[in-house]
Amino acid sequence: MSKKILEALDGFYRCHIASPTIITVHADGRDNAMSAVWHSTLSFKPPLCGVSISPDRDTHNLILDTKEFALNFLPLKKAELIAQVGGCHWSKVDKFKCFNIETEPPRKIKSPILKDAYAAYECKLFDHHTYGDHEWFVGEVVAVHTEDGLFKDGVLDLQRVKLALYLGSDKYITASSEEVRYLNRKEYGKG
Ligand SMILES: Cc1cc2nc3c(=O)[nH]c(=O)nc-3n(C[C@H](O)[C@H](O)[C@H](O)COP(=O)(O)O)c2cc1C
Repeated sequence: MSKKILEALDGFYRCHIASPTIITVHADGRDNAMSAVWHSTLSFKPPLCGVSISPDRDTHNLILDTKEFALNFLPLKKAELIAQVGGCHWSKVDKFKCFNIETEPPRKIKSPILKDAYAAYECKLFDHHTYGDHEWFVGEVVAVHTEDGLFKDGVLDLQRVKLALYLGSDKYITASSEEVRYLNRKEYGKG
């Protein structure tokens, strides 16, 4: 398939579709939440993940102050909350009160775990570095919360959880369990 060259490079990231996470942090006696779709797993041992946060977000400084954060993964039916916490700032509004966000206690850090999350990671700040106009925060995962029965045959059971995937421009979609294909990579190494 022939491809054309994108003239506007500032839209390059739209080719990379991911599931947004809600980052939570507890600072100055209250909780905050912001959405982030630019994140990744980084290492098995130690278990590391990373998230890219603009210095314009209040969460940026809250993480630098508290040295910890949690990543919460929500299903499509809770996409409204992803949009809500991604649309306002800690310094202007108590998002937990305003959006009636329910929490569960964390095990090893103070950042709250969202009741609506099907999975959540508690992270201690491992490292951080500025790349361009964002800061890449690396978290060491110190506890993982998952809903019962979340996995089937070693992967997320998409019949049980409808993923929230972010297309950009405030549009969300999901992945269908009917589209799952099993491809044994060892079969391809023989040729
Ligand atoms: C779906 C979605 C994904 C977002 N992804 C990011 C991201 O990866 N990094 C970032 O810095 N901001 C991202 N944002 C913007 C922040 O969530 C938003 O600016 C938020 O209001 C910051 O809140 P705070 O100032 O309380 O930290 C995203 C927003 C939405 C709705």
